[in-house]
Amino acid sequence: MSQHALIPTSAPFSAVEINALNTVVGRSSPEQRAWLSGYLAGLAAAVPQPQPAAVPPPRERVPLTILYASESGNSEALAFAAKKSAAKLGFDARVLDMADADITALGKVRFLVVYAATWGEGDPPQRAADFYAALMAPDAPRLDGARFAVLALGDSAYVNFCETGRRIDARLEQLGATRAADRLELDLDFARPAAQWTDGTLASLKPADTPSTATVVHVDFQNALAIDADDAPAFSAETPLEAEIIDLVNLSGTGSTRETWHVELATDQPGFAYLPGDAIGVVAENDPDLVAGLIDATGVSNDGDLAKKLTRTLDITTLSRPLVEKYAKLTGRGDVAALAGDAEAFRSFAADRQLIDLFTSYPERLDGEQLMHLLRPLPPRLYSVASSQVAHECETHLLVGAVRWNSHARNRKGVASTFLADRRKAGETL
Ligand SMILES: Cc1cc2nc3c(=O)[nH]c(=O)nc-3n(C[C@H](O)[C@H](O)[C@H](O)COP(=O)(O)O)c2cc1C
Repeated sequence: MSQHALIPTSAPFSAVEINALNTVVGRSSPEQRAWLSGYLAGLAAAVPQPQPAAVPPPRERVPLTILYASESGNSEALAFAAKKSAAKLGFDARVLDMADADITALGKVRFLVVYAATWGEGDPPQRAADFYAALMAPDAPRLDGARFAVLALGDSAYVNFCETGRRIDARLEQLGATRAADRLELDLDFARPAAQWTDGTLASLKPADTPSTATVVHVDFQNALAIDADDAPAFSAETPLEAEIIDLVNLSGTGSTRETWHVELATDQPGFAYLPGDAIGVVAENDPDLVAGLIDATGVSNDGDLAKKLTRTLDITTLSRPLVEKYAKLTGRGDVAALAGDAEAFRSFAADRQLIDLFTSYPERLDGEQLMHLLRPLPPRLYSVASSQVAHECETHLLVGAVRWNSHARNRKGVASTFLADRRKAGETL
């Protein structure tokens, strides 16, 4: 019997082993081979063989579009915070500024969260005006099948409170999208309720069981740039930049009725960048005389801690209708309730009056807790930048007109402008 080479050289054995196997198998009879193959098959079945590691099916990430309309950065900051929370929940989230977004791509969005501020007299932020107009236009794309939620930011001192968010919310529903969470309208103390709303909304937006075969479809908003989390604003009202005042000069000559201050700030901090035309929010303090007047008018006990809060963190000037409503409830006064309940009566009373006028016109004794409960956080005041980083890389200049007027027999002052003009000087920080 001649020896046949039955084992190919490509077999997973060395040349010596292949030789040896050929010596045995090549000489074997059909009966011996049949026995050998059966034996080896049985051996393989009996001994567990190491399996290649199982590749888990890819975990599906749900595409989410977070759209914001912002002028001074609050909605923008909320949008970026939402992106972080969404990533933790497994969303593949993109943040879009309405200023860069294209309406035609909106029709492809499946999950949408909108953060929208109101400006002007109930208008959208200037930068978002084109997108907003396209959304309201008759040829806006249908949004059937999409799920959405809107958070509206505003200031209750304005008559058209949160108007832009309200309209966007109504329009998205009109275009066929389904509301995943009720619209939330927030005043200037928005940070905590906004975070809670975002968490709840993302949880209700996320489909309970996302099919593993689904693919992530990123909507291409044409010119729109989906912004990286790294592009989120480095400084905000919650995390303000502390800057040294390099110079603070009254540009108006003596005898001038106008009072315009040139403020130079050292802003050489990493992450702080601006373009000409940008606005910067100044975190100011209230006039201590007004704080004392408020304490006097409400009869609260004058402990230092309360005075500090009234000076630094609470809005003690704005007279809004929601505040009058709260005051009516707190005091149980029918005349204050009537004032809050009648839009025209309120408008006429509030014209050129401030919070202190409410307390002096409808006096009641309050305690510190009650007074603080009535007030909202002191908002930063916005000023347009009057310099360019091309010329002043490490500085920011502002032009601030000091606001002073007399109305209803009381001298009144703008919060931030007179904080700078009267109570700050070069070398101090802002
Ligand atoms: C000049 C000006 C006009 C505003 N108009 C309104 C308004 O009509 N209705 C409203 O609810 N809020 C109004 N606001 C308040 C803003 O909506 C609020 O400050 C909001 O937090 C700004 O958000 P943003 O930083 O994302 O732009 C106005 C604020 C400014 C400074």
